Amino acid sequence: MRILLLGKHGQVGWELQRALAPLGDLTALDRHSSGGLCGDLTDLQGLADTIGKLKPDVIVNAAAHTAVDKAESEPELARLINAQACGVLAQTAAGIGAWLVHYSTDYVFDGRGDRPRTEMDETGPLGVYGNTKLAGERQIQQSGCQHLIFRTSWVYAARGQNFAKTMLRLAQERDSLNVINDQIGAPTGAELIADVSAHAIRQALHQPEVSGLYHLAAKGETSWHDYARLVLEFAADHGVALTVQAADIGAIPTSAYPTPAKRPHNSRLSTEKLEQTFALTLPSWQAGVIRMLTEILGK
Ligand SMILES: NC(=O)c1ccc[n+]([C@@H]2O[C@H](COP(=O)([O-])OP(=O)(O)OC[C@H]3O[C@@H](n4cnc5c(N)ncnc54)[C@H](OP(=O)(O)O)[C@@H]3O)[C@@H](O)[C@H]2O)c1
Repeated sequence: MRILLLGKHGQVGWELQRALAPLGDLTALDRHSSGGLCGDLTDLQGLADTIGKLKPDVIVNAAAHTAVDKAESEPELARLINAQACGVLAQTAAGIGAWLVHYSTDYVFDGRGDRPRTEMDETGPLGVYGNTKLAGERQIQQSGCQHLIFRTSWVYAARGQNFAKTMLRLAQERDSLNVINDQIGAPTGAELIADVSAHAIRQALHQPEVSGLYHLAAKGETSWHDYARLVLEFAADHGVALTVQAADIGAIPTSAYPTPAKRPHNSRLSTEKLEQTFALTLPSWQAGVIRMLTEILGK
């Protein structure tokens, strides 16, 4: 089996390089890739030509314009990467009978209420990022290609920057720390997303009727405030000297921390469809975060 991975250096892309390797012959690209192959999602012709050359059985797209606030001031670029490029990937995949695996977001929802959203629920993005990601989903669904679209939330990875690392740094530099407590979701590890993707791809190849949209997030829910508390509690228990203790983190509403893009208050995703279809049990968000903290703190 030939697999083409786009966005190999992103949080999820990096973990997919590991998780997809045993499935077949993997070509992993990023926007700077050369050698006659194009992994730049702004180069629509280059993408189509690359797929034409490689003729993959599965295309996995982990690349995206993920800068939620920046997207508000560069909507054309966000649309090109998050929507138009998806359309090209999907149509080209349909043309050669390849599967397209793609990632989307809880930001396609308006965040009202407190019920976990299912795949059937109405969407209503609050900003450019969510709008363009939703448009990308639709391009794929309308293309007729076989696909797996995984909507996920609050992604973190041990590699690169993440919320936990920022909290650890600030709690060693500052005298006080305030964190939002009215956005609720599930921090989800890039490792988990990559492993579930590999599992689902294996099943999909033998069971094409599983083609569709799935919510993929770790179990449980938290606020950014309680997530930060867990990070600092773990750090203190493992000997990290902090200037702000977990119990002293201030809780603030989203309105006290204005950003260019509006964010949903309710990011809860129901993962029932994914777990039933692929016979999976998703682990708690705490399990993944503690694993990541163990890794970054070297404990
Ligand atoms: N991060 C989250 O909290 C979150 C939440 C829900 C859903 N998702 C979705 O999950 C997927 C993976 O996200 P992630 O967290 O792994 O994001 P990420 O770490 O920001 O990775 C995105 C990757 O896309 C690449 N990229 C950007 N523009 C590109 C272009 N024109 N051509 C090729 N590559 C380009 C980036 O490359 P550069 O580094 O060179 O810019 C980066 O490697 C995305 O579809 C995202 O929308 C993410």
